[in-house]
Amino acid sequence: MRVLVTRRWPEEVERALRERFEVVLNESGEPPSQAALAQAMGEFDVLCPTVSDRIDAAVIAGGDRVRLIANYGVGFEHIDLAAAKAKGIAVSNTPGVLTDATADIALTLLLMAARRAGEGERELRSGNWTGWRPTHLVGSALKGKALGLVGMGRIAIATARRAKHGFGMRITYYGRRACDPAVAAELEAEFHSDLHGLLGASDFVSLHVPGGTETANLIDASALAAMKPGSYLVNTARGGIVDHDALADALRTGRLAGAGLDVYPHEPQVPAALLGLENIVLLPHLGSANAETRIAMGMKALANVEAFARGETLPDRIA
Ligand code: DGY
Repeated sequence: MRVLVTRRWPEEVERALRERFEVVLNESGEPPSQAALAQAMGEFDVLCPTVSDRIDAAVIAGGDRVRLIANYGVGFEHIDLAAAKAKGIAVSNTPGVLTDATADIALTLLLMAARRAGEGERELRSGNWTGWRPTHLVGSALKGKALGLVGMGRIAIATARRAKHGFGMRITYYGRRACDPAVAAELEAEFHSDLHGLLGASDFVSLHVPGGTETANLIDASALAAMKPGSYLVNTARGGIVDHDALADALRTGRLAGAGLDVYPHEPQVPAALLGLENIVLLPHLGSANAETRIAMGMKALANVEAFARGETLPDRIA
């Protein structure tokens, strides 16, 4: 079975793949072109892309050999599932193993935004720090503040646990339906069935819904206007969920005190309107970036390829 891996994967996982399959690895780490991805569809049995590869209908139409797209990553809005399904191509992802790492980054952003850590570091490195003073870079406490989670899946729950048990925050959330009563009881979480209701009740808002057309610009100008004056927004989910021009306006006018982003609509581009603002923390999609997690993600993708090779049910089939 011929397997194509589109980007560098952790060494341990590349070795495991090499031991089991005829695999073509991406030694240079350079992103493949759309034409190369399309060509691969006719030359390999399994394509292993990641969240930064666009596996659209044109790529999927590129050839008839690939039978499995085993994505390295949990998000899959970069894959045209309908086009894959139409050609009978199975698609899998890597859920579960990046929950803690992503929740850690949500808290990193929350703390950095609340305590103005990015501003402080920039000031210090540029030689402009003039010393301690009572009014210097004063931020916001977390204890007792309401954290509003948009979506209440695995990563949101892990974020809520850290925020409540680690920092004494109150937990509120918005979702299609109320979460598992045991989780709600543990977190003393308040459910909002109305997004704007949640936004108006939260001091900090953290986004945890999948990307894609259903959630595109969910946090638009009207949603930002519904947020509490002086509140904070954190996004570790997908960039397309937020209208970044509207966010830049809300940060510029001081309507929002701060924001922290790990994801952007057209990565690696970062919306220009945000780059000049002091009160936003901008990370380069680091949610799952710790060694343990990146290995676990690769091993999960590998488990799907192995199941496929044995003709078994895929552990993480999404289409
Ligand atoms: C994913 O797996 O979808 C993440 O965004 C990668 O960190």
